[in-house]
Amino acid sequence: MARIITITSGKGGVGKTGISLNLSLSLASEGYKVCLFDADLGLANVNILTGIYPKKDLESVISGQFGLNEIIIKDFQGIDIIPGSSGVEKIADLTRTQTGTLISAFLDIKDYDYFIFDTSAGISSQVLSFCMASHEIILVATCEPTSLTDAYSMLKVLSKYQYKNPVKVVINQVKQGKAAQKAYAKLKDTVKRFLCINVEPLGIVAWDKNVRAAVISQTPFFMLFPDTIASKCIKAITQKLINRADSTGDMPLEIFWDKCLSFFEKHYKIKKDPVLQKAPLKEKDPDTLKALSNIESKLSMLIKEVGAIKQFIEIHEFAAKKSRNKKNQAPGPKEIALDFESWLKKGY
Ligand SMILES: Nc1ncnc2c1ncn2[C@@H]1O[C@H](COP(=O)(O)OP(=O)(O)O)[C@@H](O)[C@H]1O
Ligand SMILES: [Mg+2]
Repeated sequence: MARIITITSGKGGVGKTGISLNLSLSLASEGYKVCLFDADLGLANVNILTGIYPKKDLESVISGQFGLNEIIIKDFQGIDIIPGSSGVEKIADLTRTQTGTLISAFLDIKDYDYFIFDTSAGISSQVLSFCMASHEIILVATCEPTSLTDAYSMLKVLSKYQYKNPVKVVINQVKQGKAAQKAYAKLKDTVKRFLCINVEPLGIVAWDKNVRAAVISQTPFFMLFPDTIASKCIKAITQKLINRADSTGDMPLEIFWDKCLSFFEKHYKIKKDPVLQKAPLKEKDPDTLKALSNIESKLSMLIKEVGAIKQFIEIHEFAAKKSRNKKNQAPGPKEIALDFESWLKKGY
């Protein structure tokens, strides 16, 4: 069982990836085993903030090429990272078989306390599926009206799909405490008036020049500047998360994926496995006709060969039977009936 938290916003550039990464590191520093799932398809994803550019990602797990354990980046400053990237994009094109492969891949990894999902900007079908499957959502916004509007749009969609739990709000890049308070109050008030969803404050992260310096040096600010104001804010958010009273967010990972993909299937449809279909032939296409007649002649040769092999086996079986009857011997071990009941009756 892990606490699965999806970090989302609606708008890009508000600090989701930074908060996901540094919160994961902060939880790990408290002794928790954390896995960060990089589901951000944008350019400013975990790769940029860590300087790690993995060659394998979730796509190779979906295709069955690698196991999940083979693509996980182990122990980056105490956390594990799953590069979702193009694999997350592929969720929109998954067939039923691939969906099964993906869900069962997560049966292998069980020993995490926290599973943090960093999502892309915007309300894509993938982002929404991750949110709807999580028991906990952290919604990141800044004090800017555009960010608040986008945060509201995200809440509106979650409310439409009847998301049950209160959404935890973090206001980032805060220059004045009062402005953050005002922004949160405005969001909460509008949500209360128009939507069937609850929000609750989780914390604020101050605007901090060291955050940008850390991005440039591709080292998380929590590691590079542990005492800077942004790191202190992350620590406070960590404590608030750890100290929550209930345990509604805990669930097995495979259940999360099952919920996530079921939501996707219900609202966006998952493709059936491809079946061979007769492609309409282009009339008078000499290349296609030539290729087809090649295949046809190869197939007929193959069928002839199979027939010859069958005949050969039959002749040999007949000869073997004949010689057995002659010798009147009990059948050898190879002839023992494979059916269990007759095997018992015969007392072999
Ligand atoms: N608390 C902060 N103080 C200063 N700059 C910040 C802060 N949080 C984020 N930023 C800046 O915003 C940029 C975008 O952040 P990022 O985490 O990539 O956002 P998102 O994932 O939402 O697109 C970062 O590269 C960083 O420069
Ligand atoms: Mg991001």
